[in-house]
Amino acid sequence: MLYAITVSAGLETIARQELSERLGSDTGHLKILGRKPQRILFEYTGNPRELLSLRTAEHLFLILKQIPKMTRSRSSLTAFSGALSRFNFKEAFACCRQMGINTWKRMPFRVTSRLSGKRNFRRVDLQRVVERALIERGWYSGSSKSALDIWAEVHGDDGYISIKLSSNDMAQRPYKQAHIPASLKPTLAYSMVRLSRPHPEDIFLDAMCGAGTILLERAFIKRYRYLIGGDVSTEALDATVTNFGRQHQPRQFFHWDAQNLPLGSNTVDKIVCNLPFGETIGDVSELTRLYRQCLTEYERVLRPRGRMVLLTSQNTLLDDTLKQRRSLRVTQKLTVDVRGMRAWMSVVCPKTR
Ligand SMILES: C[S@@+](CC[C@H](N)C(=O)[O-])C[C@H]1O[C@@H](n2cnc3c(N)ncnc32)[C@H](O)[C@@H]1O
Repeated sequence: MLYAITVSAGLETIARQELSERLGSDTGHLKILGRKPQRILFEYTGNPRELLSLRTAEHLFLILKQIPKMTRSRSSLTAFSGALSRFNFKEAFACCRQMGINTWKRMPFRVTSRLSGKRNFRRVDLQRVVERALIERGWYSGSSKSALDIWAEVHGDDGYISIKLSSNDMAQRPYKQAHIPASLKPTLAYSMVRLSRPHPEDIFLDAMCGAGTILLERAFIKRYRYLIGGDVSTEALDATVTNFGRQHQPRQFFHWDAQNLPLGSNTVDKIVCNLPFGETIGDVSELTRLYRQCLTEYERVLRPRGRMVLLTSQNTLLDDTLKQRRSLRVTQKLTVDVRGMRAWMSVVCPKTR
């Protein structure tokens, strides 16, 4: 069967790596077919329920039909109705049932449509073409919970007709009970943790842990030696404690200022941190000082073979701060989208290696 996962902009490479590593090319079940902006297409012959465990994915789709050579012209919409009028739903329905989605001969459905690029038709035109084609197959349009979620999309030269298999909360995590403003999406936190190259012997630090998303993603990914989190805000720390519950030992949380860490030098293997973007700290000189002091502390506590992954929208500020710290170098940088804002994930290592 042909599937697609959608991911936040900038996470395509990491998502592809996660797919291969976790659902394995070596099992013979997986064949990755392509990577498009915010989308990975792949064939998978294993149980589709396993795909719901992907931690980079926002949504999971079963692709019914991929329609090539879409143009600007309205006439290219006929390819959608043509594809649906002949489509045999037998295998697709079997896949839905494996996912716990009921199917009937007269299937209730709703259509969501998405378009990008310049077209001589509107999103609603695409939606109506697909609705009409399904009604002609004896299905009926409905908004009940049991209605099948059909997606019709046109991006670049490609059209897709898919069934959305994931619920809206695929990318949410059950652990995230308590929230704070500017809390990181778990899919982004997971991606940062992957970039830190998790190792079972890691002493892992997030010195500005907010609601604990990064620490929890680290806890779920692999064994570790110790998790350390801290924050200047007691509300944030309370959220971390709530989200952890009794699980994931050993760990310790501190109410601290990350500019002055009560940790020994060369004691931490990995630092993964979502730095403040400056939305609440309006004063540039204050933000500059915060970045400088934190980086000094991070460098001090990090082991010579350690690794940091830092997320910020303040790319120039972070680069300038790192340039002043001659013993650190950026080894990788990804541009990502955070709450509609452009931000950067930087992997930073001591130069001694
Ligand atoms: C962008 S949020 C991090 C969100 C977190 N990654 C999450 O998913 O919830 C930044 C956090 O840094 C904390 N913070 C800001 N300045 C700090 C400082 N000097 N020391 C420690 N924490 C600080 C804030 O209280 C806030 O919780």
